[in-house]
Amino acid sequence: MLWSLSRRVLWRKAVVVAVTAAVAACGGLTRNNRQSAAPTAQTGPGAQTSDAAQPAAPATRQPAPATAQPAPAQSGDAGQLPPTPACDDGDDPTPPQTAGPFYTPDTPLRTSLLAPGLGGTRLLLTGHVLSTQCAPVAGALLDFWHTDNAGNYDNEGYTFRGHQFADDEGRFTLETIVPGIYPGRTRHIHVRVQAPGQPILTTQLYFPGESGNQGDGIFNPALLVSLQDAPGGTAAQFTFVLDVP
Ligand SMILES: [Fe+2]
Repeated sequence: MLWSLSRRVLWRKAVVVAVTAAVAACGGLTRNNRQSAAPTAQTGPGAQTSDAAQPAAPATRQPAPATAQPAPAQSGDAGQLPPTPACDDGDDPTPPQTAGPFYTPDTPLRTSLLAPGLGGTRLLLTGHVLSTQCAPVAGALLDFWHTDNAGNYDNEGYTFRGHQFADDEGRFTLETIVPGIYPGRTRHIHVRVQAPGQPILTTQLYFPGESGNQGDGIFNPALLVSLQDAPGGTAAQFTFVLDVP
C-alpha cells in the first residue's frame, strides 16, 4: 500500500503538471458543452436540506442513472493528460457515500457544466477511472452534480449536472465551478461512477483546506481531490478506483 500511495502521489504530480499546462494553453478554462441527452421533467424536492443526514439509499430519486453505453473517447483536454501509469498491484476502491436528496437522473451528456452568467471560480477536474488492478476502465460512466456558487442545487433543471464517459484510457475531464457551501455540509461534488455493466459507485469529492471538512459528519479524507491554482481558475485531480476485475 505504501508503494501504491507513493505511486499515486507521483502520478498525481505528473497530472498536475500536465493539467496546469493544458489550462494555460487554453488561456484558462474553455467550454465544451456537448448536451445530447434529452432531459426529463423533474420535480424538485422542497426546502433544501443537508444531504449528509440522508440514508445511504435515499427513498426518493432512486437512480436509474444514465445508462452506460459504449463511450466515445473524450476529446479536448482529456487528450492532454498523461497515459495511465503502469502498475501491477491492487489498490483500494474509492469509498462510497450517500447520494443525498438532490440527484436528478437523465442528465445531459457533457464535459462542461459552464454556462454564461453562472459565476463562481472555474474548476477543471480531471482524472482517471481505474480498476483495483489499476487497469483503465474505458467507457466508465461519470455523472456529476453539485451546487452553484451560492450553495444551491438546481432541482428543476440541469445546472451543474451532467454525465460523461471515460475515454479508452479511463480518463475524464469536467469543466465546472468550485461549488458553494450550504448549511450542514462542507464543500463537495457528488458523483456516480459506473463501469459498463457493473454496479454503481455513488460517492462525493472534497476539497483540501476547507474549514468545514472536519465538522462534516460524512467527510472522508480518502475522497479529497488534489488542488492547484491554475490560470483562469483552479485545477483538481482525482482517481476513482472501482471494485471491478
Ligand atoms: Fe450535496
